[in-house]
Amino acid sequence: MGGGDDYGGGTGFSWQLAVGGSDGAPTSVGVRDLRLCWLLGLRFLGDSGIGWGMIAEGQDLVGRLGFPLRTLVVAPMVDQSELAFRMLCRKYGASLCFTPMLHARLFSESAKYRRGKFTTVAEDRPLLVQFCGNDPEVLLTAARHVEGQCEAVDLNLGCPQNIAKRGRYGAFLLEHADLICRIVAHLSKHLTTPVSCKIRILASRTQTLDLARRVEDAGCGLLTVHGRTKEQNKERVGACDWDIIREIKARASVPVIANGGVGTFTEAEACRAATGADAIMSAEAILENPALVAGMDPAPSPTRMALDYLDMVARYPDTKKVVQSHLFKMLHGTLTVHPAFRAQIARPFKGKDMSVYLEAMRECVTELAALHGEGRCDDRRCYPHRRTDAYYPWYGRHRGLVGV
Ligand SMILES: Cc1cc2nc3c(=O)[nH]c(=O)nc-3n(C[C@H](O)[C@H](O)[C@H](O)COP(=O)(O)O)c2cc1C
Repeated sequence: MGGGDDYGGGTGFSWQLAVGGSDGAPTSVGVRDLRLCWLLGLRFLGDSGIGWGMIAEGQDLVGRLGFPLRTLVVAPMVDQSELAFRMLCRKYGASLCFTPMLHARLFSESAKYRRGKFTTVAEDRPLLVQFCGNDPEVLLTAARHVEGQCEAVDLNLGCPQNIAKRGRYGAFLLEHADLICRIVAHLSKHLTTPVSCKIRILASRTQTLDLARRVEDAGCGLLTVHGRTKEQNKERVGACDWDIIREIKARASVPVIANGGVGTFTEAEACRAATGADAIMSAEAILENPALVAGMDPAPSPTRMALDYLDMVARYPDTKKVVQSHLFKMLHGTLTVHPAFRAQIARPFKGKDMSVYLEAMRECVTELAALHGEGRCDDRRCYPHRRTDAYYPWYGRHRGLVGV
């Protein structure tokens, strides 16, 4: 494992324990990696022999294995993985969540930015706080503000947007492995909180494997791999390479989270089986179906989840823009069938009081839900979330699967 600090109590040496790898064979895992696993609710599935199906049935195996088993992770999402949404996903069983990407320089300099962009509560754990940036010292200053309020500080190495290109962060750092390693080593040396990285894959397998090994050696204690290149973005999102994630996981001695290409609970199981990853991360699909992790078949109705979400916003306020965006994703299928409600959610809302806005949204969603009582509407698009269906109206929009 990497040459970072010893999180096992500062003894100066690293204990090695044997646990099962993805193929069931023992792998060597250091104490700090195990501690990170414990904190994050991850587990080594090969060791337990227990499948995801049992998690779905809600069996409490925490006592037996030592840590919670639900291993579907809520991805970092700008303006979308905020506190209210994280708490909604936790209500439906997600045990590990990432904050949205936070800009390290702004976070380190501006108390207003910190207050506006980072909110958490005691129940919002385990939590990873993600930063973007390219200066080790600036990242460290930013990270110090969240030490003690999260299980790890995550470095964004996946953002493919133009803004990241201009700011030289996210996926645009991927080809600068020396700089990445300097950042990881610096954070790992000076923070008491573990450091993790979320990468995209590079053009060649060798480059990707090399990068994964190097960040681990620099002190990264948990690696998330999105199995797409930075060019696979928006309409060009395309297929996800689970095989390279499998290779990374097979070689890694730190926990690996697989990300990409998961639209349903069954696909999450398939991804776990294909990659051997310790956990599976979902972004777009969990926005549409926040109960994805629970694997309920069918999931609660989209209107039920939207009402639960509005309850969360009443407790953990956010902006109208963020709330609207969540409602459109959760209700995507049913709004296609009942477009008048789309206009209601989209209508400009002049009042400044969020509670008035939330009440209006609650009325709108309740009315929409009432249309579906007693079999009055049986359009399949209103009931999209089944465990096995390759039918997910919003997630499927760039995948040729809408309306299948
Ligand atoms: C609305 C949205 C915002 C995102 N913001 C971030 C972010 O802040 N940090 C990050 O590392 N990835 C971000 N991503 C990428 C996701 O975390 C994830 O890697 C990607 O969507 C692939 O996962 P999926 O196939 O489950 O959607 C974002 C994705 C979406 C849809």
